[in-house]
Amino acid sequence: MCGIIGYVGNKEAYPVLLQGLHRLEYRGYDSAGVALIQDDIINIHKRQGKVSELEEYCIDRDISGHTGIAHTRWATHGEPNDVNAHPHFSSDKKMALIHNGIIENYQLLKTELINRGHEFASETDTEVLVHLVDDIKRNENVELAEAVRLALTQVVGTYAIIVISVEDPHTLVVARKGSPLIIGFGQNEFYVASDGSAIVEYTDKVVYLNDEEIAILTEGDDIHVKTIKNKVIPHYVETLEMSLNQLEKSGYEHFMLKEIFEQPRSIADSMRGRLNSAKEIVSLGGIIEYENHLLNARRIIIVACGTSYHAGLVAEYMLEDLVRIPVEVEYASEFRYRNPIIYSDDVVIAISQSGETADTLAAVELAKQKGATVLGICNVVGSSIARATHAGSYTHAGPEIGVASTKAFTAQVTVLTLMALCLAKRKGKIAKQKYTHIIHELENIPKRVEEIFKLDTHIKEIASYIKNFNNALYLGRNYNYPVALEGALKLKEISYIHAEGYPAAEMKHGPIALIDEDMPVVVIATIKGTYDKVVSNIQEVKSRKGKIISIVTEGDTVVKGLSDYIIEIPETEEMFVPLLATIPLQLLAYHVAIMRGKNVDQPRNLAKSVTVE
Ligand code: M6R
Repeated sequence: MCGIIGYVGNKEAYPVLLQGLHRLEYRGYDSAGVALIQDDIINIHKRQGKVSELEEYCIDRDISGHTGIAHTRWATHGEPNDVNAHPHFSSDKKMALIHNGIIENYQLLKTELINRGHEFASETDTEVLVHLVDDIKRNENVELAEAVRLALTQVVGTYAIIVISVEDPHTLVVARKGSPLIIGFGQNEFYVASDGSAIVEYTDKVVYLNDEEIAILTEGDDIHVKTIKNKVIPHYVETLEMSLNQLEKSGYEHFMLKEIFEQPRSIADSMRGRLNSAKEIVSLGGIIEYENHLLNARRIIIVACGTSYHAGLVAEYMLEDLVRIPVEVEYASEFRYRNPIIYSDDVVIAISQSGETADTLAAVELAKQKGATVLGICNVVGSSIARATHAGSYTHAGPEIGVASTKAFTAQVTVLTLMALCLAKRKGKIAKQKYTHIIHELENIPKRVEEIFKLDTHIKEIASYIKNFNNALYLGRNYNYPVALEGALKLKEISYIHAEGYPAAEMKHGPIALIDEDMPVVVIATIKGTYDKVVSNIQEVKSRKGKIISIVTEGDTVVKGLSDYIIEIPETEEMFVPLLATIPLQLLAYHVAIMRGKNVDQPRNLAKSVTVE
């Protein structure tokens, strides 16, 4: 939610900031703005709408300056308009600030500042920060960085901020708590951004700021880091593991499509070095130290949101089936506020593509406070959740830019499968023959995904049928229930067709009342497991005139006979069906959204990283 970027150095700042905004736009795209210091003034240009609208607006404006900050917004407080767009000015326009996060006590602070004569232009929570820093700077007669530090001691909430002032024209003051912030080092210059994608083309030497830390970045000087409590601390320079071509569309029309088609590679990358089928060894280096905690866990509790939650549900079936440890899967947003019982011998696993989801991060902190072992399955290296957990494994899916999560899901399921296999083997809960068969089958999944891509034209035809409906139901059972949830989530978030995922057998407890000839029902009806039961559920839909689109195992004739459309996927182990069946559902949602003229990479009201609760 919201992307921030700053630059100080000897380059013109605007091109760096603008390019950075384009890369960060997936984080929020309802308005954008830039502030540049030029001599003793700050020029701010901001616009409602996408970064391209800001770019157009700036064509005939003064965009010179070597120090600047820029922001792309996902509105929380105050509607998306030009005034509420960041950056925000202090009263005398000598200071400007951008912010990602939420200031919870902003109303209180605002009232006090208004009483002291400050005039506010916007309805945002952010604007109080710049007035507060300015107020402290004047009244306490302190340097900019100290004013920022003192201001942050009064703030309740989350923030990643960058502040500039004409009094320190070659300095950025940055701070974070609960929202991500990365600092890049160039030649006598600094780059600051919400994530590495905005700065990777300039540098791979970075520092990840920790919560409640402030950094002072002055052109030609070294970085200075201290805590909000005023303790000077050392910084550690790391190498940013990201390449520029991972951030391009590489000939695809949309990031989502590229990311769908990357899955054979991303699934293989998530297994690489972890699965040695010749030696029949599965190991997850990142959590090896905590394997005994997992094996002796009273329970495994998985916390996640959205698509990552669906990956957690798949893991629940797998871990209980193969490892025989009780597993609970919870929406992080519910878990954190319901006073959950957590034992010190529970292992909590947080799943998050971005590693920044506010609710998942809060659930991690809560579980740590209660003494549980907390592991992370994240995609973004160095992200907040990856760093807040005791240990974890990265998914290696590569940057996921499309707001709809695709390759992250299959990578998460892959890593969780490896975890389940490791534990099952160590616990002696899996027969040798089954273990051997499963790991060979897992190794073949990328090839099977490739085969599914050959169905794209057929899936497009089904999309042209579905695109005209207003509702859709997705049904599945057992391992295919999370697939139904995920298929429905994909369709609704990018095509805006109302879609619900249901366990197929639950239909007759309510949703069956919705079935008529205007209700397409997507059923994941692969062989094995509860196949016969699902066939009965299809009959129930059919006899009520529902339209049936089935995902079936290659060669199936029974479900084919009952369906209006079928999508045949290669046969695999039941536990791997989610890795295959999700792919046509991603493509289906993509094509429907395109046919309905929607922006698939940046669907309305959404953002990629949900860093506010
Ligand atoms: O980064 P995370 O995996 O923690 O994100 C969780 C959800 O916000 C995310 O999966 C969201 O539901 C996607 N838009 C789904 O496509």
